[in-house]
Amino acid sequence: MDRSPAAPSPGTASEQSLLEAAHKLQVLARRLVEAEELERHRIAGELHDRVGQTLSAININLDIALGLLPPDNVEVRMRIADSLALVEGTLQAIEHLMAELRPPLLDEYGLGAALGFLAKGFSARTGVACAVEDPHEVGRSLPRDAAVALFRIAQEALANVFKHAAARHARIRLEAAPGGVRVEIADDGSGFDRRERLAQHHRWGMTTMQERAAAVGGRIEVESAPGAGTLVRAWVPLAGPAQGGSA
Ligand SMILES: Nc1ncnc2c1ncn2[C@@H]1O[C@H](COP(=O)(O)OP(=O)(O)OP(=O)(O)O)[C@@H](O)[C@H]1O
Ligand SMILES: [Mg+2]
Repeated sequence: MDRSPAAPSPGTASEQSLLEAAHKLQVLARRLVEAEELERHRIAGELHDRVGQTLSAININLDIALGLLPPDNVEVRMRIADSLALVEGTLQAIEHLMAELRPPLLDEYGLGAALGFLAKGFSARTGVACAVEDPHEVGRSLPRDAAVALFRIAQEALANVFKHAAARHARIRLEAAPGGVRVEIADDGSGFDRRERLAQHHRWGMTTMQERAAAVGGRIEVESAPGAGTLVRAWVPLAGPAQGGSA
C-alpha cells in the first residue's frame, strides 16, 4: 500500500483560512474584553474624581446654607432639604455605578473579599441566598488581570442566575487548582439544555465569559440540565496567558 504523504486536498487552503479567520476573531474578541475593562476603569475614575467629589462639595455647601437660614424661612429650607436629598441619592447611584464599573475591594483586599461584596449585593437585590467559600484565600496570589476576569465571570454567572434560574440558593467557591485558581458558581435553579441554548443567537454572556477567561489563558466549563441547576466553572492560570500565535 502506498503510504507516501498525501498531496494537499483542495479543502486544505480554505480550511486554513477559516482557522486563521477564527483565530483573528478570537484575538479581536479578547482585545474587546480588555478594552472594555480599561474603559470601565477610566470611567469609574472620572466619576469618582469629577462628579463624586463635586457632588460632595455641593452637599457640604447646602448643609452649611441650611444651618445659616433662619428657622422661619420654611420655603427655602424645604428647597434646600430637597436638594440635599437629591444630591445624596445621586451620590449613592454613582457609588453603585462605580462598584459595577470597578470591582470594589479587589485591589485592597483581594478576589475573595470582592466576591463576598458581590454576593452580598446580589442577595440583597434579588432575595437569592448566595454563600461565598474561600477557605484558603487563594485569590490573593493571582495577577490582577486574572482576578478581574474571575470577578467579571462570577458577575455574569450571578446575573444569569437571577435572569434565568429562578433559584433559591447560589454558591461561589474559590479554590486552588493545578497551575491556577478555580471559581465555581452554582445554583439550584431550573437549569437548561446546553445544546438548545448554544444554538440561540444574541446571547453574549456565555461567550463573554469564555473570552474573559481565554484572555488570561484560562477556560470555562458549564454543567447544566433541565431541573438540575447550573454550575459554571472557571479556571485561570497563576502564570498568565501562554505567549505565542500572532495577533
Ligand atoms: N444559571 C442559569 N440557569 C438557567 N438558565 C441559564 C443559566 N445561565 C444561562 N442560562 C441559559 O443560557 C442562555 C445563555 O446565557 P447568556 O448569558 O449567554 O445569555 P443571556 O443571559 O440570555 O443574555 P445576555 O447575557 O447576552 O444578556 C440564557 O438565555 C439561558 O437560557
Ligand atoms: Mg447572561
